[in-house]
Amino acid sequence: MRKAILSILALGAAMISCSPSELNDVEQEKFRPKFHFSPEANWMNDPNGMVYYEGEYHLFFQYYPDSTVWGPMHWGHAVSKDLVDWEEMGIALYPDELGYIFSGSAVADHQNTAGFKSGEHTPLVAIFTHHHDENGEVQSLAFSNDRGRTWEKYENNPVLPNPGIQDFRDPKVMWHEEGGQWIMSLAAKDVIHFYSSPNLKDWTFESEFGKGIGAKGGVWECPDLFEIKGEDGRSKWVLFVSINPGAPNGGSGTQYFTGEFDGKTFAADHQDEKWLDWGTDNYAGVTWANVPKEDGRTLFMGWMNNWLYGDRTPTEGWRGAMTLARELVLVRDQGDDYIAQKPVREFYQKLKPSIESKQVNFNEALAIGSESGFVVKLSGFQESKGDIKIKLFNENGEELLLNLTADKISLDRSSSGETGFHPEFGKIQEMPYRGNNLVDVELVVDASSIEVFINDGLYAMTAQVFNKCPFDKMMVERPDAPGKYSASVYEVPAMSSRK
Ligand code: FRU
Repeated sequence: MRKAILSILALGAAMISCSPSELNDVEQEKFRPKFHFSPEANWMNDPNGMVYYEGEYHLFFQYYPDSTVWGPMHWGHAVSKDLVDWEEMGIALYPDELGYIFSGSAVADHQNTAGFKSGEHTPLVAIFTHHHDENGEVQSLAFSNDRGRTWEKYENNPVLPNPGIQDFRDPKVMWHEEGGQWIMSLAAKDVIHFYSSPNLKDWTFESEFGKGIGAKGGVWECPDLFEIKGEDGRSKWVLFVSINPGAPNGGSGTQYFTGEFDGKTFAADHQDEKWLDWGTDNYAGVTWANVPKEDGRTLFMGWMNNWLYGDRTPTEGWRGAMTLARELVLVRDQGDDYIAQKPVREFYQKLKPSIESKQVNFNEALAIGSESGFVVKLSGFQESKGDIKIKLFNENGEELLLNLTADKISLDRSSSGETGFHPEFGKIQEMPYRGNNLVDVELVVDASSIEVFINDGLYAMTAQVFNKCPFDKMMVERPDAPGKYSASVYEVPAMSSRK
């Protein structure tokens, strides 16, 4: 099947000026990511139920197995030992009489608080929304006693009925060590509700967060409350709240608040939202549960898409990919707390250098190879008063432009390839820059995406890009003060399932 698709794609390549062998991911289907998770077939949205157990990271996801557009939701499932190489498993949860299986979380119930344990393994418990068009949204449980391989729904679902709020969903559950109980964050229209439980089955309302706080341009979805350590040893509580629409560059995005959580109430340090990622394509992301203490990292993944145009992207046979797994850290910058993010170290360990710390002239093109996936690390920018523009381009006339100024960073994908499937896809994306000294810029480019990390991930932008030919050249422009910068380029091996 794949071979047949390949030859059709190779024929189509005759119209385009890169050779068929270079055609963007011709060996991997059109626009198919090489090293980002995408479902083998059909529609995927939010990451769900991310939990670590016995050497495996689980990724469940909103999945519709019958079409490449959204439909009755299931939970798909993938497993990885290293957060990079994902293996897709069978469907974990199917819709039932209570409704579709919407977003939610999973935990390893080591103390068997819910009483689901029936064998040698710790039960994994999924807490998810049942969505029913007439009966509304309620929260339910399912459990697995075989390391997530098979799932059974709890017989007394739902565990949290609907209190008369139409949008009432996406439970994210964490074990609150100090309080010795489970805490659930739940999106309730445009605020967050917190509930507590000793056993995952009986839930008590604790508090509400968000009246008059944060971005309100759409419905609040997919919250995540977690504690995170700062570089300086401090620890803070963070609340992620995805919102759709209402993101700064259109459609969906994830805002966050830093503050304190006392087991009942979350008190934010600030009223205005901060944005996790200013690109258009990082939504509904949350953190992994049960990451071992000796590891201690805060691990995150988001849906690399946007509800604005998510069902029109020009992929075939499948639609939707995840961001790379990222490590989040708390960083103090100019008197304020921010979440910085970078791909997990396991990803960097797989990279193969093709250009190492090369001194390159500004305003001169650098050949970066014709691989459809690569990482570029740029540094050694001397102080500059003027703009720096980083351009990825190819012979096919496709280009992607990152423009850095003292107070703004923008990403222009208007000439990057296929953009016409939605009027707003080609719009320039902007992110405020707080005038920091520019230390490094990292670009992670796969067959249909770019992830931009600036100053060790203090600034992040993630965007889909549908270039027909690989970007095989780069130019860093700085007209005001020519000189040299340092560039390293790395090849990224394809995930085993994409080889
Ligand atoms: C977020 C979301 C969730 C919901 C799910 C449905 O992208 O809208 O709020 O549970 O997707 O697929």
